[in-house]
Amino acid sequence: MRIISIVGARPQFIKASAISRAFKREHSENLEELLVHTGQHYDDNMSQIFFDELDIPRPHFNLEIGSLTHGQQTGRMLERIEKLLLLKKPAAVIVYGDTNTTLAGALAASKQQIPVIHIEAGLRSFKKAMPEEINRIMTDHVSTMLFTPTQRGIQNLLREGFSLEQYAPPTMDNPAIYPSGDIMYDNSFYFAQKAEKTSTILRRLQLRKERFVLSTLHRAGNTGNPDRLYAILLGLKKIADSKTRVVLPLHPGTQKQLTSITNQAFVEEINNHSYIDLIEPVSFLDMIMLEKRAEMILTDSGGVQKEAYFFHKPSVILREETEWTEITENNATILTGANSGKIAQAFLHFRNYPPEDYPEIFGNGDAATMICKEIVTKLA
Ligand code: UD1
Ligand code: UDP
Repeated sequence: MRIISIVGARPQFIKASAISRAFKREHSENLEELLVHTGQHYDDNMSQIFFDELDIPRPHFNLEIGSLTHGQQTGRMLERIEKLLLLKKPAAVIVYGDTNTTLAGALAASKQQIPVIHIEAGLRSFKKAMPEEINRIMTDHVSTMLFTPTQRGIQNLLREGFSLEQYAPPTMDNPAIYPSGDIMYDNSFYFAQKAEKTSTILRRLQLRKERFVLSTLHRAGNTGNPDRLYAILLGLKKIADSKTRVVLPLHPGTQKQLTSITNQAFVEEINNHSYIDLIEPVSFLDMIMLEKRAEMILTDSGGVQKEAYFFHKPSVILREETEWTEITENNATILTGANSGKIAQAFLHFRNYPPEDYPEIFGNGDAATMICKEIVTKLA
């Protein structure tokens, strides 16, 4: 049985590592996995570093698409993935999450009636202005097997006409949905052990003893709007002004958008602030160590807000809504949007009243084993 996994963006390399590990461990005799990298992310610290560090096999194919407009990027991926699928004729295609890579992979495969397996299905922000929301909905509705990390994901799919009852082998017209738990929960704990042994980030940034918060920022709705970008950075600066270190590994897209802020003197202040560590993106093992040691995490990332919860850290979500509503329901996060005052208030709230409890809502840490077994038994 040949499966093609399609990845292209930072979080997808990390997610794919959990599935590749489980395939190798349990099904290496009867399954061949080919990895396709679309090239959506291409800087060494957005791509290669994850392959080096997480023992992911080198991609069998790199389509080298790069940064383009949404239409160009998705269109070029679609064309090249189609060619590859015609050549390699896989039994199924796996796509992850909600990026343009996800959508292109799902469209190319479904048009050839190749079953699409969507990992991290069913999530919704209910905001179609978000490019990811369109990618998720479209991908879910051409998928054959949908693995959902949370109960809310299942509820969303049921509302859109999917059913939990399954009488026959899954097909595109008769898709199967599964509450599988979250493969990132698997990954965070699997790699935390390695991170403890090998990461040097805390020493490099001299953070071993000092209290700090961690922040990431890359969501298009924030970085593509200079006023929002400014307001969020102002919120982070207020925290830094109170003499708490803010560690900010900045996505390259956000770094480029800093020039769009009218007040460049402010950008200069951020760059030179003695309590702000504005650094390049870090490796996943370094990220884990920063997350484990941070007092709290301020982010607009989907993955990072969950990792905060995995490691029992409060998070401040720099958006108006989240797909991971279970985290909000457990009072482990505050949604601030791009409001500098609310960001500073949320920081103070969690400093004074950290959450007491982080109930398990992301599965048992072994989602990948269940997913791979289901794929092999249902599609073989
Ligand atoms: C993409 C996903 C987003 C995901 C994120 C993970 C879409 C629509 N968005 O957003 O859902 O959360 O990846 O990180 O697919 N750039 C570089 N070097 C790189 C990659 C990007 O400089 O290696 C810069 C380019 O200027 C590019 C910008 O970042 O235009 C944005 O990259 P892109 O892949 O379009 O979107 P992300 O913001 O990374
Ligand atoms: N991440 C990383 N280095 C960084 C920032 C993030 O390894 O400098 C990891 C993070 O731990 C998480 C994933 O990348 O596992 C999340 O990716 P991102 O925030 O880019 O995308 P999203 O999850 O929002 O789609």
